[in-house]
Amino acid sequence: MCGIVGIVGQRPVADRLVSALARLEYRGYDSAGIATLHEGELQRRRVSGKLVNLADKLRLDPIGGLVGIGHTRWATHGAPTEINAHPHATSRVAVVHNGIIENYRSLLVELAADGYLPSSQTDSEVVALMVTRWMDLGLSPVAAVQATVSRLQGAFALVFMFQGEEDLLVAARQGSPLAIGYGDGEMFIGSDALALSLFTDRVTYLEEGDWTVVTLQSASIRSRDGHAVDRLVQLSNTSSNVIEKGPYRHFMLKEIHEQPDAVSRVVGRYIDRAERTLAQSPPLSFDFATLPRMTVSACGTAYLAGLVGKYWFESLARLPLDIDVASEFRYRQPPLQPGGLAMFISQSGETADTLAALRYCASNDQHIASVVNVAESTIARESGSVFPLLCGPEIGVASTKAFTAQLTTLACLSLVAAKERGTLPDGAFEKLIDALTALPAALSQALLASDDIAEIARGISKAKDVLFLGRGALYPIALEGALKLKEISYIHAEGYAAGELKHGPIALVDDTLPVIVIAPSDELTDKTVSNMQEVRARGGQIILITDPKGAAIHGSTAAQTVILPQVHSFIAPIVASVAIQLLAYHTAAMMGADVDQPRNLAKSVTVE
Ligand code: F6R
Repeated sequence: MCGIVGIVGQRPVADRLVSALARLEYRGYDSAGIATLHEGELQRRRVSGKLVNLADKLRLDPIGGLVGIGHTRWATHGAPTEINAHPHATSRVAVVHNGIIENYRSLLVELAADGYLPSSQTDSEVVALMVTRWMDLGLSPVAAVQATVSRLQGAFALVFMFQGEEDLLVAARQGSPLAIGYGDGEMFIGSDALALSLFTDRVTYLEEGDWTVVTLQSASIRSRDGHAVDRLVQLSNTSSNVIEKGPYRHFMLKEIHEQPDAVSRVVGRYIDRAERTLAQSPPLSFDFATLPRMTVSACGTAYLAGLVGKYWFESLARLPLDIDVASEFRYRQPPLQPGGLAMFISQSGETADTLAALRYCASNDQHIASVVNVAESTIARESGSVFPLLCGPEIGVASTKAFTAQLTTLACLSLVAAKERGTLPDGAFEKLIDALTALPAALSQALLASDDIAEIARGISKAKDVLFLGRGALYPIALEGALKLKEISYIHAEGYAAGELKHGPIALVDDTLPVIVIAPSDELTDKTVSNMQEVRARGGQIILITDPKGAAIHGSTAAQTVILPQVHSFIAPIVASVAIQLLAYHTAAMMGADVDQPRNLAKSVTVE
């Protein structure tokens, strides 16, 4: 988490640092700060809260300087106060840090013995203190950084600037991403190419253990063992255009409405609509036909997309699929059958736990594939096969269009797998192709339920707890409904497999509990509706998300009904996703919550 940026420039850097940080705010928005060198002296401005507070402070109290570093924070150690905001500095050095220094306590004890005391509660300040101690002992800035970094345990991306050094930044990467940007007579460092795209499209990604010395004219890179290394300078595709909300009140609502286009791009990549068959598939680093097993790992919403994928791969392609949240998978040491496919799902492509799970699988003889949105991300770069989400930047912290693009990608890939494994009965394949072809229009139609859902949200916004129920591939959508609602409205919500209701959660049911039942008509609807009756018998308020057939048969059991288009059950989870997203959105917006930047969250979780 945390976004970091550095500029060695020929023009003032303060405003440019803030503009770059605006593009990194998705990594955290607990506090922000910049430091520059003005006439050789280190200067800092820091604030608690969002970047807008920093911009206000700089308007009242500007700072000059042609070299500088900046930071937007997602707090790990120490409250999100100004004193804990980065950059951390001494009289000799300022540093910004993304990651966690795991051994900071023992290092602080060591430093305290020499009289170097911290002023914040962060793990990061120890880095500034250590570099200062080495410089006080006579080491050059570069040597002091090298000596410090060799002592650090944990994950970090660090950028340093030094008192009196107008033409120098030093940066190091271990576990957290960092890119160098090449300008005309200026150089840049940042957490990602999106921040750098304001200045340049020529970027180099540092690899694990790399550190770099950056001046106005060049960047020299060394690997962990100190050897000079060449890293590819590539042209980034990241657009420098500012992403606007357009007519929408929030990015989340805009992104919900972008879903028909987003899924249409995915369907177009895998399906030849005219021929009613699969399009020429991109070259794969594995063969679905002979795969013994699939392992999927991801976090949060991306994990729930994978959980839907399990239903599809297993039922359509008869391919056994194990799935786990990456934070558990990475430490569980699961035995993996050699030659299996390990697939990682991630919008950002930088999630620390997902990346660690990927590396575990790579060292255990698995084919590595990823379903990612950010094409230049670390997870994409470390994968043998990459399935891009093609949905454009997602700004709202709560994932919406990336989720449905993940689902659509997995649905298409499960069909590719089914075809290659020959597991579908005659005629089934074409029906599934037709279902996917109809998906963009079905999502457009589902969006028309927005006003009805807003009406239902009025009641939900007064609830203390909410239960979501679903069965089969709609069970993960119930989990996603609960996740979406709690993360942006802060209302407590739980998702359950409908059949699990009577094994515990039914104890919660009374007339204050809204129970949202996701049950479009399929072969399991009757079973889900029985569970619905059990809730009703205990006074629970049922909100049924279904389709015209389901509403005709079961609508009267529910207090309120959302009617989605009638679609093939294969794509029903994707269509139902729109309803649960709109429900969370309208509830949170009605409550006046900060929908796009909910408290305590960040869009890219680069610490474990
Ligand atoms: C919730 C949400 C998160 C992410 C999770 C993984 O709305 O967005 O749960 O899905 O943090 O992030 P990525 O997909 O970037 O790996």
